[in-house]
Amino acid sequence: MNKEEKYGHLLPQVAALCEGERDLIAKMANVSALLHHEFGFWWTGFYRIAPACGVIQNPRDNKGLMDNSEAGRYELVLGPFQGPLACVHIGYGKGVCGTAWKERRTVVVPDVEQFPGHIACSSESRSEIVVPVFQGDEVIAVLDIDSRDLNTFDEVDACWLERVAALLTTD
Ligand code: SME
Repeated sequence: MNKEEKYGHLLPQVAALCEGERDLIAKMANVSALLHHEFGFWWTGFYRIAPACGVIQNPRDNKGLMDNSEAGRYELVLGPFQGPLACVHIGYGKGVCGTAWKERRTVVVPDVEQFPGHIACSSESRSEIVVPVFQGDEVIAVLDIDSRDLNTFDEVDACWLERVAALLTTD
């Protein structure tokens, strides 16, 4: 199977896992396991946007982060994943994950050493893709996948993984 066929095979499974399930963490856990084992990636998982450590939230203000002035109030926090241990907190605009969040777009990194500010959770990781997860217009998480090979990810992965990400927030 080429990777298009693999994704084509996997997408209905993702849809089935997500259908009728409202718990986002549970869906992230199963989706990361499914992708990880189907493709044999090095690291597959999610970072969720959450209030930054030490920031006291006004419980009436849960509108989420959409502009730079509030950037320090939120950060990416490690969520469900498969693979080796990973860093827990990533700031807005930091690393590949923070960049995908800030720029609200999928970021494909053919060679992590060429990406300024790449955060190396594992020295084994050579290439990476990060896909934002949207709820409505708001980025609520990112899907991050690392490979031990260079040039693993391209537009095909971006397109299919964006479809995977969309299923997570489709009720
Ligand atoms: N490389 C990521 C950090 C997360 S780990 O790869 C699991 C980044 O630069 O944001």
